Amino acid sequence: MNDKLKEALEEYLSIIRDLRSHLLDLKEAGFAEVRSPIPDEEPAKGNVELLDKHRIIAIETKPQKPSGSISAIPTSPLLFSGIAPASIFAAHDMEGLKREVLNCKRCPLWRERTNVVFGDGDENADLMFIGEAPGEEEDLQGIPFVGRAGGKLNEMLQKVGISREEVYITNVVKCHPPRNRDPQPSEIDACEPFLIRQIELIKPKLICALGRHAANTLLKTRSSLGRLRGKFYDFHGIKLFVTYHPAFILRNPGLEDRMLADFRRLKAEYDRLRSE
Ligand code: URA
Ligand code: SF4
Repeated sequence: MNDKLKEALEEYLSIIRDLRSHLLDLKEAGFAEVRSPIPDEEPAKGNVELLDKHRIIAIETKPQKPSGSISAIPTSPLLFSGIAPASIFAAHDMEGLKREVLNCKRCPLWRERTNVVFGDGDENADLMFIGEAPGEEEDLQGIPFVGRAGGKLNEMLQKVGISREEVYITNVVKCHPPRNRDPQPSEIDACEPFLIRQIELIKPKLICALGRHAANTLLKTRSSLGRLRGKFYDFHGIKLFVTYHPAFILRNPGLEDRMLADFRRLKAEYDRLRSE
């Protein structure tokens, strides 16, 4: 198979994977049905996801209730003593790590980036947010969550009384995937050691994973977001909370209240951990 064809196939498979995971997220979020309008029809208002001109799927589900604190994920004491994935960058301090990331060519995403998006905020933060990958605006500015999704994140933070300056924000992958596609598993694997080292250096008391990619990467699972969100996990001794990605909420504004409820739980835990 020639390279062009291979690339097209990769892209196609990646779109199918995105679509599938998006449908699963909607199902877990309690949507009974996903359909799209016929072409030229006004997009339907509310929680209807527009996919193609055919009805794609019809699902009966009940909204999930967050079930309090669970710790289903086994911890690995090895990781933070520098033996598991982070070990290749274990010697780096934040400056050294940043230099390494800014010059990184560990996966093909480096080819199309304008800027590497390393991270932003307080390097001594107690609370760290982890998104998926830089979008177009983030790629242009080299700062995470400065586009529309960033606006929604800022709004959520402000509503629950957390300032953006007091937290640290980064992504699972540090370079913008072309056409905003999902990062591929090989790209996530290549970039993950940087994230792990960032966590080791920042030592937050609480991590908030935004969306399925961050949650799946950190928790080493392939569960849907609907199943994971609204709960606390143990990430190598650090509390980890999972909620929606703000871009998902922009596409599904009917779920905003749920995200806000998640943020309120996150804030309560953040306050509790800081007062310990
Ligand atoms: N979406 C993300 O996951 N991260 C960003 O930095 C911007 C949008
Ligand atoms: Fe390197 Fe991560 Fe960028 Fe890939 S996404 S080139 S691993 S910094």
